[in-house]
Amino acid sequence: MLLEVKDLNTHYGPSHVLQGVHLEIGEGELVALLGRNGMGKSTTLKSIMGMVKPTSGSVKFEGQEIVGLPPYKVARAGIGYVPEERRIFPELSVLDNLMLGIKDGKIRNPNDPNTWTIERIFHHFPKLAERTHQAGGRLSGGEQQMLSIGRSLMGNPKLLLVDEPSEGLSPIMVQEVRNVLEEINKAGVSVLLVEHNLKVALSLAKRVYLMSKACIGCQASAQEVRSNHELRAKYLEA
Ligand SMILES: Nc1ncnc2c1ncn2[C@@H]1O[C@H](COP(=O)(O)OP(=O)(O)OP(=O)(O)O)[C@@H](O)[C@H]1O
Ligand SMILES: [Mg+2]
Repeated sequence: MLLEVKDLNTHYGPSHVLQGVHLEIGEGELVALLGRNGMGKSTTLKSIMGMVKPTSGSVKFEGQEIVGLPPYKVARAGIGYVPEERRIFPELSVLDNLMLGIKDGKIRNPNDPNTWTIERIFHHFPKLAERTHQAGGRLSGGEQQMLSIGRSLMGNPKLLLVDEPSEGLSPIMVQEVRNVLEEINKAGVSVLLVEHNLKVALSLAKRVYLMSKACIGCQASAQEVRSNHELRAKYLEA
């Protein structure tokens, strides 16, 4: 297993927000984490990433225990994070925003074809290539999302945690972001995707975790979620 999360508990002050989350991601997999608002999906990603400190439980990445490590160490271990709010530096150019994604100031193994370089990012994100010197803050929402994903890739993650990438985007941009995630996954990056757009999530993921209040209620195939109305009614629909 690439990632193994076991019995993860996280509190915000007195509120017990994750109550024993279990999930696994295999090498090369794209897995979706779905559920209604406030169930703890973002908190799960933040807990894996070390942005919030879990109170107990285990997060193993490539067999190594990483729970409780600070985010920069989790990133160094090989996990990238694309937060919901994108966190583009608005004054910096597209190129400089991408350069900030490089870990420890240098690209490792630049001659390895699997290493993410600026050229490779621009190949996958031609819209960003056209705007190399434009300020990040002047990109459209969809372009900013691409930039945020591109910046995470510059750290050469094995696993990317992506929180609501299609949030607030036009239907065309939703499709473009979806296609980029598919390409990245085909290029060998595993993905844990939190996504409200069910169609997008099920078109990308073969395996889905359904989150109910504070824990994973059920694991299903994308096909089961598509065909099982009761499952959707229980975990997803308003
Ligand atoms: N920093 C925080 N301090 C206190 N409570 C928080 C904090 N962040 C989130 N929560 C609470 O924790 C619970 C889980 O929030 P989380 O953001 O993980 O849910 P989510 O599944 O990502 O929801 P959404 O689909 O709306 O993004 C919610 O009840 C939320 O109000
Ligand atoms: Mg969220």
